[in-house]
Amino acid sequence: MTEIDSNTFHPLEKTVLKNLVKKKSINLDELSTASGLNIDQIRRSVEWLKEKKLITVKSVETKSYSLGEEGKKVLNVGLPETRLLKTIESNNNKITLRELSENKSFEGNELSAALGYARAQKLINISKEGNDTIVTVVSKIDQKLEQNFLQKLLNSVESENISKDEAILLKSFLRRPDFIIINSIKESRIELSETGLRIAPTVEISDEVDNLTPDLIVSGNWKTSKIRPLNLNSPVPEIFSGRKHPMQLFIDEVKEIFISLGFEEIQGPIIQSCFWNFDSLFTPQDHPAREIQDTFYIEDSTIDNVATQETISNVSSAHETGGNTGSKGWRYKWNSELSKNVVMRTHTTPITIKYLADHTPDDAKVFSIGKVFRNEKVTFKNLVEFNQIEGIVVGEKVTLRDMMGLLTKFYEKLGLHKVKFWPSFFPYTEPSLQSMVYHEGLGRWVELAGMGIFRPEVTIPLGIKHPVLAWGGGLERLVMLKYGIDDSRKLYENDLDWLRRFSLCP
Ligand code: PHE
Repeated sequence: MTEIDSNTFHPLEKTVLKNLVKKKSINLDELSTASGLNIDQIRRSVEWLKEKKLITVKSVETKSYSLGEEGKKVLNVGLPETRLLKTIESNNNKITLRELSENKSFEGNELSAALGYARAQKLINISKEGNDTIVTVVSKIDQKLEQNFLQKLLNSVESENISKDEAILLKSFLRRPDFIIINSIKESRIELSETGLRIAPTVEISDEVDNLTPDLIVSGNWKTSKIRPLNLNSPVPEIFSGRKHPMQLFIDEVKEIFISLGFEEIQGPIIQSCFWNFDSLFTPQDHPAREIQDTFYIEDSTIDNVATQETISNVSSAHETGGNTGSKGWRYKWNSELSKNVVMRTHTTPITIKYLADHTPDDAKVFSIGKVFRNEKVTFKNLVEFNQIEGIVVGEKVTLRDMMGLLTKFYEKLGLHKVKFWPSFFPYTEPSLQSMVYHEGLGRWVELAGMGIFRPEVTIPLGIKHPVLAWGGGLERLVMLKYGIDDSRKLYENDLDWLRRFSLCP
């Protein structure tokens, strides 16, 4: 660390440092009195100096003691055991128990308490002499000390002003109920740090200008005044301005990329009929993905008129026999009732397929981004609710190669360069592929998106004539790769600290 330049210190800091030179340790009030600064100025400069590591601030607790209710009662008469000893001594150091019990100066059970205490402390001896029980003093106590200390305790006494002998007395006083009142005061004590000790004596308070005012400029006095230099290395409080959630930032970036590649965005509802989520995509009605373990169904609801009669009938034939698609179909009885069930969409592909049904385009480049839902166990890489990016290219001459090229470009724009494509399977595409990217952190290839060319069983029932390249994949995994996040749950914990410190340039 470079040595701090004391010229850059604020006048308040200089004043405080100067006042600390002669003191080993000082509290805020004392510092205020000594320096002539008000308490707010002291507080501010103490904060600054602490940041600069020129001082240390310790919180110290001091205790003070004073007489309580019971303590005040004995102040003039003395403690019962002291009175007991006095009584015995003034009786030639020998008194019978009977005589003591007849002594009117002891009230209530004072006498037995005093006897018990004095005996336990080995101050007295109790013995038999004929029929009498005799009490004698065997060890004296310092009555003067006790009396003086009680007197002293009328005012509050700080622990540092209590002598060793008094401390022993205090210990016994504290055992008596309501005898002593303890007051504890917490205060901040300020001391020069090692650096502070070195620098403080060199600090000079001079007449310098801390604020360049209009007056100084207009009068021209700024030319001759000494202006305090700024310390550009001085630590400042962290400020967290508002910012977008990393997921939203990423969604914006992905949209930007597809738009720059000539795509248009399309949207669709989160709640879908089974017809658009599964049936129109040639997913057989007994497919495991349709089970409730995998898909969230909306209870007790159905959607009527999911599509035109013609579309429903075409899709039904494709499933049962293949219809006019050149396929043999799945060869089962398609149930229109099941297609009316309502689900939280399990992928964004229903948006794509509905778009194709509505527009029957010969050429198209569209994409969509949205939430999808899967009834799965949540893990570091699986969420129940996540975002998908989905897109299609429709055209007379488009091929699988075009799609691989397009996605390679997309990943490149995200900074992912080690990408490859593997054969895969989806009920609605043929051929089917899956894109994989090499994860440096994990040291292995991870799956990014599914894709393929829509099967004739999907396109022909909707009246689509040209090939449709289609792909779709989760966004969270891409965000994790891009920003080096190792647990997808982190994105949705709403951990403010994490969100504030999240770095876009890991
Ligand atoms: N819908 C598939 C999924 O959710 C992805 C996909 C989209 C596959 C389009 C092929 C074509 O994983």
